[in-house]
Amino acid sequence: MTSTEDEALRLDADDPGHRRLFHVPAADGGRYPEAAYLAGNSLGLQPRATRDELLGDLDAWRRLGVEGHLEAERPWLPYHELLTGPAARLVGARPAEVVVMNSLTVNLHLLMVSFYRPAGARTRIVIEDTAFPSDSYAVRSQARFHGLDPDTTVVRLRPRPGEDTLRTADVLDLLATEGDTVALVLLGGVNYLTGELMDIPAITAAGRAAGALVGWDLAHAAGNVPLHLHDWDVDFAAWCSYKYLNSGPGALSGVFVHERHLGDPALPRFEGWWSTEAATRFEMTPVSRPPATVEAWQVSNPPIFAMGPVRTSLELFDAVGMPALRERSVRLTGYLERLLDEVTPGRPLTVVTPRDPARRGAQLSVRIGTGSAAGLAKRLRHEHGVIADAREPDILRFAPVPLYCSYHDCWRVAEALAATVEVSR
Ligand SMILES: Cc1ncc(COP(=O)(O)O)c(C=O)c1O
Repeated sequence: MTSTEDEALRLDADDPGHRRLFHVPAADGGRYPEAAYLAGNSLGLQPRATRDELLGDLDAWRRLGVEGHLEAERPWLPYHELLTGPAARLVGARPAEVVVMNSLTVNLHLLMVSFYRPAGARTRIVIEDTAFPSDSYAVRSQARFHGLDPDTTVVRLRPRPGEDTLRTADVLDLLATEGDTVALVLLGGVNYLTGELMDIPAITAAGRAAGALVGWDLAHAAGNVPLHLHDWDVDFAAWCSYKYLNSGPGALSGVFVHERHLGDPALPRFEGWWSTEAATRFEMTPVSRPPATVEAWQVSNPPIFAMGPVRTSLELFDAVGMPALRERSVRLTGYLERLLDEVTPGRPLTVVTPRDPARRGAQLSVRIGTGSAAGLAKRLRHEHGVIADAREPDILRFAPVPLYCSYHDCWRVAEALAATVEVSR
């Protein structure tokens, strides 16, 4: 490895990011006090502001009891509305198109109730073969729910033999030739395993032109890459807040439904008391009056203690702005790529993430040719204080998250890999 630690430190001085706003875990090994935390694509770090936010909400409950619904500093009844504006800005949506609620897979199901409606020959659901398992299980269970055979209903897109990532042209081809059998396209905006950023506008346009509905799982895209869901004509999308959005383990999910579907009385939907117009909620009538916004998809009253951390995090994204974050992300990920290119030759390590920065976010996935990915991740952590994420059998994922990761973190990754993985030829 020819790149020096001094260079990494110089780059950090010139391009420091916002690390000071986060708690960075202590290292569990190696010679530095802080961990090099490259696992923000799995669970983002805790913003320093989150603790006070949570304590404030706890305090309001202690002081006010039920009156907090109306009298808390941020009243609980309309609390979710505070999250709508910043979440809409984050994903390029209009406020009426976005709501934060529930968990991601729950929301995918609620959305499929409305947007997966197999009929006649149009029954199939297109996903990636490397879709996150939860999505796979969700679409298979939706097929079964409609009395269909999941093995024939779910189409799994695979890369070409010998390749690791999907080609947009192949996805478009499938939609052009077999699109009349497809009811729903549901793909990951950024693939969880390979870090591939899909061409969301092109695939959405092709799916819709074929007569299908097109939804996106943006778990690895929200807060990672710029999104323009409204302008891209996406039918629906959902994402979680515990990865790039740093809102804590199991944090709430955001939902997008395009304006053209809002207020459509023909759409089936599962409802609860939070699905009705806020003004009529306490009239206790037996029939709901859903608003012509995505809030019609809400079911239950929101968990306030879970909403505070999302609010804090979204404020941060608003303050920094996705365009600036994306620029730093491209610089930081490009730097890690350069270092990996110094270390991988001669070692059984291959970067499988696309090399074009336009086709990826803040993640580089490395295939290890020998040994176990989990075993290597353990050694990186305990011998070098580098926290990365392993997907068995053979993928290590490194996410240089632009909000809090440093160039020095990236340098430590490369140095640790060089020290841990033997040169094989
Ligand atoms: C791409 C993707 N989809 C779905 C999920 C499942 O999310 P949840 O457990 O919040 O439903 C995850 C979790 O990491 C994910 O990465």
